[in-house]
Amino acid sequence: MHVTRTLETHRLLLDLTEALELTGFASFCDSFHPGSGVEARVALIADRLDPELGATVDLLLLRGAVEPERLPGRVAEIAGRLDEIFVRDADGRLALDGLTLRHTMGLWLFLQPEHRRNAVYFGDDTIGLAARLRPRPQSACLDLCTGPGTQALLAGRAARMAVGVEVNPVAAAIANLNVAANGVSNTEIVLSDLAEFRTDQRFDFISANPPLLPVPPEIDYPFIGDGGEDGLRVTERILARAGELLAPEGVAEVIGVGLGVKGAPAFLDKLAAVGAEAGLFLNVFLLRRTEFAVGSGLFNGLILSSAGTDPAVQARHHIALEGFVDANAIDSAFTFAVHARRAGGSPGIRVLNLTETGFGGLWSV
Ligand SMILES: C[S@@+](CC[C@H](N)C(=O)[O-])C[C@H]1O[C@@H](n2cnc3c(N)ncnc32)[C@H](O)[C@@H]1O
Repeated sequence: MHVTRTLETHRLLLDLTEALELTGFASFCDSFHPGSGVEARVALIADRLDPELGATVDLLLLRGAVEPERLPGRVAEIAGRLDEIFVRDADGRLALDGLTLRHTMGLWLFLQPEHRRNAVYFGDDTIGLAARLRPRPQSACLDLCTGPGTQALLAGRAARMAVGVEVNPVAAAIANLNVAANGVSNTEIVLSDLAEFRTDQRFDFISANPPLLPVPPEIDYPFIGDGGEDGLRVTERILARAGELLAPEGVAEVIGVGLGVKGAPAFLDKLAAVGAEAGLFLNVFLLRRTEFAVGSGLFNGLILSSAGTDPAVQARHHIALEGFVDANAIDSAFTFAVHARRAGGSPGIRVLNLTETGFGGLWSV
């Protein structure tokens, strides 16, 4: 019974995205930069839309409760039957239950309304990793820390098959909705800690955008972003798994953030050691350097995104972060991308520092 219901939901989701395509909603979404802040930008222009598109945008992007008769007929009909995803209030108005739905980068994606404590993530770094995907025909791809499945779905489009691994059940459930909404049959979402993910498959391409922000333990940071004190806690585990799961000629692309002291990266020795332990050769691209001192954008951003607007928590986090930065003589942070392949007996690391060029690389903190 449950399976039947899920299959019916999947079929309806595909019908919904097909109906939305005809209304111009996908094209509307594609008119915005896909990174963070889409909802805020859409809200600014929502009153300029024609009534049907406006109602669709209200329902799918702006968390509105919408009278079904204001929606395009087919969209209203399908949404009305998708009662696992849309709710009806006492007045019969439809609303998305804690989700948004948008088209972006060629995918239909259910996400959560933008909030710092979300279980699912989509941001500028999502795009940074998406731009590094190189699935080849017939390849098997693995996306660790898949969140809503963005990279797994993108890789699956070109590859023979793709697997996304995600530890958070809410994120994994949303990723499964996204697999259905895109009508994909070669992409599977596995609910698992990446360290416990078991498979006999070896992968030609592995991608990962892990929780990557450097956060001292005194700060209760949202799970999706907390990379531990040096930002590398999950990255280390990903490289270790890449050492096991890559096919002989396979490649991994992992993005991250590392700390800098006196303006120089202070994390390359650690990456080299982790890579060597995993039997990998690493090409590291340092993309951007950003100031990480008291009052800098990164410093204030970490406090805001962990403490929210509560002044007492903000003050506590400020003290903890200042102590952390001072004690470790940190003054900067680097966004980086690692290209990893099997070392075949000669592990090593090669670093290209794009931060010295003045133009930097794709994606910054
Ligand atoms: C920054 S988000 C990236 C999501 C998506 N790949 C993207 O680029 O937008 C990191 C994701 O890693 C997941 N995660 C954290 N630790 C994990 C682990 N040990 N195993 C699997 N997933 C994990 C989090 O729940 C979160 O969804």
